[in-house]
Amino acid sequence: MDAPAKIDDVVAAKIPDGVYAETVLSVEHYTDRLFRFRMTRPAGFRFRSGEFAMIGLMVGDKPVYRAYSIASPSWDEELEFFSIKVPEGPLTSHLQAIQPGDKVLMRKKPTGTLVLDALTPGKRLYMFSTGTGIAPFASLIRDPDTYEMFEEVILTHTCREVAELKYGFDLMEEIRNHEFLSEIVGDKLKHYPTVTREPYPYQGRITDLMESGKLFTDLGVPPLDPAVDRGMICGSTAMLKDTKAFLEKSGLTEGANSKPAEFVIERAFVG
Ligand code: A2P
Repeated sequence: MDAPAKIDDVVAAKIPDGVYAETVLSVEHYTDRLFRFRMTRPAGFRFRSGEFAMIGLMVGDKPVYRAYSIASPSWDEELEFFSIKVPEGPLTSHLQAIQPGDKVLMRKKPTGTLVLDALTPGKRLYMFSTGTGIAPFASLIRDPDTYEMFEEVILTHTCREVAELKYGFDLMEEIRNHEFLSEIVGDKLKHYPTVTREPYPYQGRITDLMESGKLFTDLGVPPLDPAVDRGMICGSTAMLKDTKAFLEKSGLTEGANSKPAEFVIERAFVG
């Protein structure tokens, strides 16, 4: 008599071609809306820091995917993701329940525009993020190439509530305590967290803080200058539109992989 199939064999039999099934290594919940998880990285999976991949789960008999920025840098042996929890979300309502040892699906081909290759050389790199839009920057601020290309890196992160900023603070601490990154990053990286719906020392939307000039005064840097400043933007559709408008008003032009320029944008994916 044949031995019964193991669960993993059953799952594996249903996994479509062109998809990896990786093992969850750790899960950390930040708030009732946010969590991060780390999983194994498939041998041979290559990506550029800042890119996204399609991440999924088998829901019943069918795989359900959504786009996720890879939050870990390209040199990391594991893969990290930072996720929102949407109660009725087709994927995140299930993904938020994952535990170490569970399998997560990932399509094989990563892509994206928030990559260093899409920018022309400059002096100062601004990373503008809201909410889970910090994820691609979590990758880029941990990549030594970022500091080779730029003298100064400014990560802005705006959230509704103070608790939602924690992932950003954890990243900064991780870099400070990291054996080789701490040396490479030194004092080149500045973190500028702001909150819009609670009292906090730094308050307001990043667009308003640029309009008023407060961002630049707080950081002790001159206003945006297309000769030296570069930008990457990741947030909601409305935030992308308004931040892009400010950058364009300041004389910066939008680039892409095929045509590097002074700033690039990507939606923070939800659902
Ligand atoms: P606000 O609280 O004033 O709406 P969300 O969770 O809706 O994506 O928002 C995340 C953060 O992005 C919030 O702090 C929110 O501020 C801010 N935000 C929303 N829309 C814009 C926009 N058009 N420009 C800049 N920031 C925005």
